[in-house]
Amino acid sequence: MEKPDNLIIIIFGATGDLTARKLVPALYSLYGQNLMPDRFIILGAGRTVMSSDDFRIKMDNAIRTFSEEKAPDFTNISYFLNSIHYQPVDYLQESAYHDLKVEVERLKAGFGTGGNVIIYMATPPNLYEAIARNMSAAGMVSQEDGYKRIIIEKPFGYDLESSRVLNDTLHEIVSEDQIYRIDHYLGKETVQNLLVTRFANGIFEPLWNRNYVHRIEITSAESLGVEDRGGYYDSAGALRDMVQNHLLQMVGLTAMEPPSSLDANAIRNEVLKVFQSLQPIREEDVEKQVIRGQYTASRIRGECVPGYRYEKGVDVHSRTETYVAMKFFINNWRWGGVPFYIRTGKRLPTRVTEIVIHFKQTPHHLFQRVIGHSWGNQLIIRIQPDEGILLKFDMKEPGSGFKVKNVNMDFHYKDLADIRVPSAYERLLYDVMLGDSTLFSRDDEVETAWKFIEPIQNAWKNNPSIKVYGYPAGTWGPEPSNSLIEGENLTWRYPCKNMADEELYCEL
Ligand code: BG6
Repeated sequence: MEKPDNLIIIIFGATGDLTARKLVPALYSLYGQNLMPDRFIILGAGRTVMSSDDFRIKMDNAIRTFSEEKAPDFTNISYFLNSIHYQPVDYLQESAYHDLKVEVERLKAGFGTGGNVIIYMATPPNLYEAIARNMSAAGMVSQEDGYKRIIIEKPFGYDLESSRVLNDTLHEIVSEDQIYRIDHYLGKETVQNLLVTRFANGIFEPLWNRNYVHRIEITSAESLGVEDRGGYYDSAGALRDMVQNHLLQMVGLTAMEPPSSLDANAIRNEVLKVFQSLQPIREEDVEKQVIRGQYTASRIRGECVPGYRYEKGVDVHSRTETYVAMKFFINNWRWGGVPFYIRTGKRLPTRVTEIVIHFKQTPHHLFQRVIGHSWGNQLIIRIQPDEGILLKFDMKEPGSGFKVKNVNMDFHYKDLADIRVPSAYERLLYDVMLGDSTLFSRDDEVETAWKFIEPIQNAWKNNPSIKVYGYPAGTWGPEPSNSLIEGENLTWRYPCKNMADEELYCEL
């Protein structure tokens, strides 16, 4: 694999969770595979005043704690840590960026990294614009001596309008091809495998359309609650946090037309076309097509779990949704009339992300219906955990007559010998170093996705009578989400049962 050119990576928000849990462990893992440049510097920047030595100690702990390697090897860690430095920066003070520039120049000269710089915004999103402007004012984004690339974390704006403002501000400073909007779902190996499953095999693609597919279901369930992110989450909610980005990107890759090549723009053009074909949900239909919920206190395997409103940083009267399920259509030749159902939620019974293609039934049932048996094949693409692909089909049960049994043809990534699945951040950071933006969201994709989400946001804002249903933590979300699925006896696929105990409610 290609080794990237020498560079400096500046991480704003260096003392935060993302840097410790994901970014630095991912960079260390690339280093371990000899995929970091020969000369590189990681310069942490944050509001906290600390020395480079203290920051190194923090990152040393972070790598040892959060490494995703099966058998982590830390023998090289001190060499890697030598490349890490820290500079305190008050993000809103222009003068702080002059000091930062002096430090960057010192490191460049001292370590011979050259002028390539990646700027990673791992701060709260309301600081992105100020940081970009101040970097520009300090003359730190000029490409005279090497490339300058900006990585930004979602959310890319709060709604359509703010995403446009953010894009406009960034475009005043750098060009679109210097911006890498991270949607870490696109860095997941199994999400990329969707493209390979669809376009490297001759057997699926002919069936992948309205003639053979009955409906498509995408679930991204989490068993954890909001943990210590209540403050951020209460102003975001599941629609902004998961649906506008991760879930819609999965819809895009599932529904897109074959791209003409693997070029970044060829793939993103096709995803954009899917987003442009999403049938808008009218404000007056939101109540029918979109179900929102919020988890309430319950008991899971004997342990009391607080309701969302009692989580740290959350308003006790909050109406923020921790669950969203919705139904929509894609208006194009391939998908006209096929319902897409997507759902996501916190404090559901398990952590699972999967895409389920439900194929149409055979036109005539020759065989005897066995009680509880549902007809129709399903292809399940398991994104996480236990990454793999499952095909469900009918088979004759041995014995007299023609009793039919649904069986599984099951592939698990973990069965591949000696295969190491890289973490999403590892893949994405490596891609930015190589200048490959295929797995990053483009400005027009982001704005078109917001356009689809906007009527839902408006309906919820303008019509307080639209319910926020409570669901006990550890269950599969509010009951009304079941009635979204059209068709007799049809429901969501439930990969496991509710986890909450029968006796659901606890005193807090
Ligand atoms: C993040 C969201 O983007 O994705 C979190 O902000 C969510 O709320 C997370 O928990 C889920 O990611 P993963 O990779 O654990 O499915």
